[in-house]
Amino acid sequence: MAKLLGNLTYAVLLGVVLLLVVLFGFYGDMMQQNGAQFTNGFFRFLHVLCGIMWIGLLYYFNFVQIPTMPKVPAELKPGVSKYIAPEALFWFRWAAAFTVLTGLIVAMLSGYLIEALTLQPGARVIGLGMWLALIMAFNVWFVIWPNQKKALGLVDATPEVKAKAATTAMLFSRTNTVLSLPMLYCMVSQGWLGGV
Ligand code: HEM
Repeated sequence: MAKLLGNLTYAVLLGVVLLLVVLFGFYGDMMQQNGAQFTNGFFRFLHVLCGIMWIGLLYYFNFVQIPTMPKVPAELKPGVSKYIAPEALFWFRWAAAFTVLTGLIVAMLSGYLIEALTLQPGARVIGLGMWLALIMAFNVWFVIWPNQKKALGLVDATPEVKAKAATTAMLFSRTNTVLSLPMLYCMVSQGWLGGV
């Protein structure tokens, strides 16, 4: 067991096997009889999975890494900036991209993509959530990541540029944390409370 769980790939594969058991166990009939509904449900699952990875790492940065860094002794800081942060940023930005992609697919499969993006009655709540999340994803790819590359020394930059880039990345990361609350409320409300 330790060998299995000690290897991340095997652990993920085990999760996939259990997922398949649940899918076929509970929804085997639906897969055959109502493929469209099942596909929509499966993309919702993929969407939430990617969203958890994205927002989970956003909260890791904001609730754990950023507040703790000042307390880390100088000689240990490179452990975070050279090893942990670049890896976390890799999963962070790609999870953001796949959350957007799967979210747009869910909206399309649900038949309200354009109505939501244009904030039409009935799809305003999810539309607002989608716009908030799109702004957040834009921040990840076009503000946080380019500035983090400078701040972490992944690209050449003077100490002044690095310091300014670190502040910019932190402020936009905080902005995304702020936006994540109404965004998530809109995401879960459309299905539960209905579109407004
Ligand atoms: C641009 C990015 C995003 C788009 C386009 C998007 C789009 C959507 C759509 C269309 C739905 C279906 C709403 C419904 O009809 O019930 C949905 C649901 C949901 N989304 Fe997003 N979303 C995005 C970002 C996120 C993020 C960052 C999270 C964070 C975890 C998230 C979490 C959820 C959750 C939990 C649901 C509810 C699933 C359900 O009840 O079936 N979404 N999203």
